[in-house]
Amino acid sequence: MKKKVIIYDRIEEPVLSTLKEEFDVQIFKEQDAHKDPDFLPFLQETEGIIGLDFPGKSDVLDQAPNLKIISNVSVGYNNLDTKELTKRNIMGTNTPDVLTDTVADMAMGLMLSTARRMPELDQYVKQGRWKEAVTTELFGADVHHKTLGIIGMGRIGKAIAQRAHLGFNMDILYHSRTPKPDAEEQFNALHMNLENLLRSSDYVCLITPLTDETKGMIGKKEFQIMKPSAIFINVSRGSTVVEADLIEALKNEEIAAAGLDVYIQEPVDPDNELLKMDNVVTLPHIGSATLETEIKMAELAAENLRAGLNGEKPGNLVNPEVWKKE
Ligand code: NAP
Ligand code: GLV
Repeated sequence: MKKKVIIYDRIEEPVLSTLKEEFDVQIFKEQDAHKDPDFLPFLQETEGIIGLDFPGKSDVLDQAPNLKIISNVSVGYNNLDTKELTKRNIMGTNTPDVLTDTVADMAMGLMLSTARRMPELDQYVKQGRWKEAVTTELFGADVHHKTLGIIGMGRIGKAIAQRAHLGFNMDILYHSRTPKPDAEEQFNALHMNLENLLRSSDYVCLITPLTDETKGMIGKKEFQIMKPSAIFINVSRGSTVVEADLIEALKNEEIAAAGLDVYIQEPVDPDNELLKMDNVVTLPHIGSATLETEIKMAELAAENLRAGLNGEKPGNLVNPEVWKKE
């Protein structure tokens, strides 16, 4: 008998078809899953879950007594309570590396489009207001040769540093809990505490995971330390920033602009004040969303799922303790 697997929200073809052949699959869209009368009965018998942002916390896990693995199609895994998973002998996996360059490209794009006011100017051109667009008030800020502060110098942080330093001649400052000698050697990056980074950067790019430690790490105090000309880019998770403080900082001109891919609530509330500000560029959490990369992520997540369900150790376990335990 085929093992029961939930596909949560979405998974790209051709991986979807392969999974349908191998397993007894049910697809539940994130927004409807928990209201769907078929969801709970299927979850009770499910051995594997693959998809985006499945809420892997104790209340839901209580309903999944046969579950062996939750395979995230994302590198971030703040949706999973890893301690709780380990306690229940459930594996959690993610998809690192395959998306690194794609997310770094997007972070650079967001930085450039915010600095050079591209979405705003695009609207002027499309509305036939070309002459009005080319005025001093609508001039942008240079990116090249400026100072970029990267908070979270991991895989993606380093790929951003590479583009910014080697491509745009930017000086790189970074903050992470441990120094990264490879980034220092390759991109001349300087390791420093958060306060010094915020004080000295023209651009601040946040790309840490969301953890208890990073939740709300950028708020009122941090925005007040930044330069009034600073441009803030968030590619990590919405909750690493106190969104109300970001709105205040923009209104009070404590910083110049923001480029955002992530929000505390996703999809973002259409009434969110950030959406009404011309100096805020907003994207719908699409850091890794190119077809090529989404397929690679789906393939890697499917490999992790298969390994877990076949009793093998998946390549990208986020709770390796579970394996040692067995
Ligand atoms: P990674 O390689 O694990 O890098 C994360 C870095 O953050 C690490 O080098 C870590 O360095 C640093 N860090 C962790 N806690 C910190 C703290 N309290 N203060 C300062 N730095 C801290 O992960 P990655 O592959 O680069 O991905 C990073 C995150 O980006 C993901 O977890 C996800 O949330 C987000 N992401 C978003 C998108 C999108 O679509 N917008 C796409 C992909 C990823 P230390 O351990 O030395 O502190
Ligand atoms: C996307 O946000 C990811 O974490 O992969």
